[in-house]
Amino acid sequence: MASLKDKRIVVLGGTSGLGFAAAQAAGAEGAQLVVASGRQARVDRALSLLPKGTTGYTCDFTHEGQIKDLFGQVGAFDHLVYTAGDALLLGDFSAISIADAKRAYDVRVWGAMTAAKYGAPLIRAGGSIVLTTGIASQRPFKGWVVPASLLGAMEAMTRALAVELAPIRVNIVSPGVVRTEMWNGMPESDREALFADLGGKLLTGKVGEASEIAETYLYLMKQTYGTGQMVTVDGGGVLT
Ligand SMILES: NC(=O)c1ccc[n+]([C@@H]2O[C@H](COP(=O)([O-])OP(=O)(O)OC[C@H]3O[C@@H](n4cnc5c(N)ncnc54)[C@H](OP(=O)(O)O)[C@@H]3O)[C@@H](O)[C@H]2O)c1
Repeated sequence: MASLKDKRIVVLGGTSGLGFAAAQAAGAEGAQLVVASGRQARVDRALSLLPKGTTGYTCDFTHEGQIKDLFGQVGAFDHLVYTAGDALLLGDFSAISIADAKRAYDVRVWGAMTAAKYGAPLIRAGGSIVLTTGIASQRPFKGWVVPASLLGAMEAMTRALAVELAPIRVNIVSPGVVRTEMWNGMPESDREALFADLGGKLLTGKVGEASEIAETYLYLMKQTYGTGQMVTVDGGGVLT
């Protein structure tokens, strides 16, 4: 396995949840970090918690021009991690607005594709891209048509980018339910009840923690041979 020491890692979505945990874990191994997300306050908070020398940018990943400018400022680096995602569009399929469904692809799918397009030319030899999906593509629940479909698109995009951008390795992490800020839109009592209910049904008996998923991002950056692959870390969610 290659070391992450002194590698420059750009984490888009690295100010919260899975991306922040991956940045923290990579920082602990001596990586130089760049994090970016949409809200300045979140970037500032992340910079206050991540190792000294970490650089932060505010950038809306629904805007191609902003992503292009971001990479123009970042310069050469080794690994790109993309974890950005906004609120999930869930609900009765018959009531879903198609305009909203199209918008739901903006950050996760088009943002990731745009980041790969402008980021890849800056990736040094031996570098990689690690994207993010979720198990709903394999194990959708009722009300999950929009997220499940965009996650499937992310997985196909990963394989195609691996072919397109070789020898840059391109892989994707597929988490199950993980306790992160993504769920903070729910009242705390509902959220804890949901985690307890879902966790109780999993083979591991609990939902995941961001630090547990971070290890998978690190593995995919450090390993040197796998490309176009998805690694699922879900407490056995696809089997239940
Ligand atoms: N947590 C889970 O249970 C779980 C399970 C499976 C898959 N996932 C997927 O994993 C990814 C990360 O999830 P998470 O739990 O880490 O979520 P999170 O804690 O809510 O973090 C999401 C990140 O995306 C950024 N972001 C959102 N919209 C953006 C935009 N328009 N431009 C720039 N940055 C934007 C946020 O920063 P700002 O607010 O500053 O913009 C934040 O840094 C998501 O795609 C999610 O669907 C999560």
